Amino acid sequence: MQLSKTPKLIYEAPGSFEETRYEKLHNVICQNSVEGSISIAHYIADLILEKQKNNEMCVLGLATGSSPISVYRELVRLHQEESLSFHNVITFNLDEYFPVVKEDVQSYHYFMHTHLFNYINIKPENIHIPDGEVLVKNVRKFCIEYEKKINAAGGIDLQILGIGRTGHIGFNEPGSHQNSQTRMITLDHLTRFDAASSFQGIENVPRKAITMGIQTILNAKRVLLMAWGTNKAEIIQKAIEGAISPMIPTTYLQLHPNTTLVLDSEAASELTRIKTPWLVGHCEWDEALRSKAIAWLCNETKKSILKLTDEDYNQHGMSDLLASHGSAYDLNIEMFNRLQRSITGWPGGKPNADDTYRPERALPEKKRVIIFSPHPDDDVISMGGTFDRLVSQGHEVHVAYQTSGNIAVSDQDAICFLEVAKDVLKVDDNTQLKELNEAFENINPQQPAPRSICDLKGSIRKRESLGATRYIGIPDSQVHFMNLPFYETGLIDKNPVSQEDVDLTVALIEKLKPHQIYAAGDLADPHGTHRVCLDLIFSALAKLKSKPFMKDCWVWLYRGAWHEWDIDEIEMAIPMSPDQVLRKRKAIFFHQSQKDGVMFQGNDRREFWIRAEERNSATAKKFKDMGLSEYAAIEAFKRYFF
Ligand code: F6R
Repeated sequence: MQLSKTPKLIYEAPGSFEETRYEKLHNVICQNSVEGSISIAHYIADLILEKQKNNEMCVLGLATGSSPISVYRELVRLHQEESLSFHNVITFNLDEYFPVVKEDVQSYHYFMHTHLFNYINIKPENIHIPDGEVLVKNVRKFCIEYEKKINAAGGIDLQILGIGRTGHIGFNEPGSHQNSQTRMITLDHLTRFDAASSFQGIENVPRKAITMGIQTILNAKRVLLMAWGTNKAEIIQKAIEGAISPMIPTTYLQLHPNTTLVLDSEAASELTRIKTPWLVGHCEWDEALRSKAIAWLCNETKKSILKLTDEDYNQHGMSDLLASHGSAYDLNIEMFNRLQRSITGWPGGKPNADDTYRPERALPEKKRVIIFSPHPDDDVISMGGTFDRLVSQGHEVHVAYQTSGNIAVSDQDAICFLEVAKDVLKVDDNTQLKELNEAFENINPQQPAPRSICDLKGSIRKRESLGATRYIGIPDSQVHFMNLPFYETGLIDKNPVSQEDVDLTVALIEKLKPHQIYAAGDLADPHGTHRVCLDLIFSALAKLKSKPFMKDCWVWLYRGAWHEWDIDEIEMAIPMSPDQVLRKRKAIFFHQSQKDGVMFQGNDRREFWIRAEERNSATAKKFKDMGLSEYAAIEAFKRYFF
């Protein structure tokens, strides 16, 4: 049997010795997590087929978490569309929370069945997942049996791994011993913190888990570890370039003779050869790399751009830059001008001004703008100051809230609104309110929230958003609630993107024919809502590309609540005065349900308005430190060419 396409990425030989001289683990870098996931799925499929040819069983070690979801999706596709059979496959999962019942939507048992096993022809008796229901006194015995079963199957042919921010593989947290085998382990606080949003609060995350040990993983014949997104960049750098240490259990993989890390470009972004390639060898010095290097040099030397000397360049691995591009003086001026020209108080272009060196065109003077906001609040959190300026400068600004954001409203908040409705209506026998009441009484956190509750929560977020957009000053008719279907599961896990999601996005752009589109260019979480929403916009742009009105449409990416563009990436910087910062704060405050005990805070404990303010003032400080004017705050954008 021959599969349609078998990407060869993972079979790649290591890069040149010079380039990878800081690296102790073989790794390949893909364009994005989709390409990486497809490569891994095809690698697994190749192995299954090879074993089939030899009449052998194929023993796979499997992982859960967000990272392998697309790998499993592709395996399911290969089974359904290309007849890949799993009849000769035996699987052993890495880990399971403890205690947890199999039916719990958070259990890894549930995860594996809903992402893979339910859709392929694997024999149920060939599936092994650590049991979260075993009695505590029997856990040890269970673990010993698990190891025996792996050995009896002939050992693991291919082990798939993700990596936690603690550097864990499986649930082998920092401190795990190289010789450890399958056992019960106490989860690290950071791991529980990262899982908190799935469990609706850290207090619900189990404290323990059963996990294969380091030795169990090292015994596998082949190991593939995948990591996607900026969130993993720091730990990936330590795992690949750091010394072997129990404090970063992934470094034990350096002892394994046949391991490959499959990374997307964001997860690889902290590797020395990517972050500071001038420190490892010869570089092609294009404009982007020159800017990146000079921004880095300013940070290293703690000097502003115009104070950098030839000596600074020479001492920091950039003598070939000087050789090819002239003196520090020329390089400094070029960089300074570039940054200076990115700063503008006119995000929609300055009317009647020469726009040769401005980030936006002067014409048309009044632009039609769509701000795409993945959730109902990202618009004001991430670009509230720019939004405000666009409106006050007379542009026709539309906001498109891509998802309803309903799962981020707590039951308590929603019940409060329900009770207000009851008080106001002064009726106890309104059927709809009664049904909602009952729905809350019967809520089961292990099941998707019922439609009526999702709608109530969606409506709360809609009303909050209208509060903010009215405050900024746009009519309700310019606010579009797209309620994209991929989001509407009533669960944290979302549906795969459908044609309808793309069509709705295309239809809105086509109807409004914007001159400017702002979109959340958040790449930190490859499976998160922001990423999906961005990919939908990219798909829509690709579809609309040939339409005449698109020639006039510029796309600007802002970063969501999680992180900012690097200074060298910024192409439009919108400064804010202290008063504008306060207006932005007020607009964010309209999103009451997302304040204080917000449910999906991610790995940052600060409230959204504080994050936004600190981020915007940090960007302003970076400009100042590099020798440009000092502002209270700056919002930053990068242009996207489609
Ligand atoms: C899952 C597992 C964990 C995850 C890791 C990364 O079975 O053992 O080590 O691989 O926590 O999780 P995600 O992929 O959700 O970032």
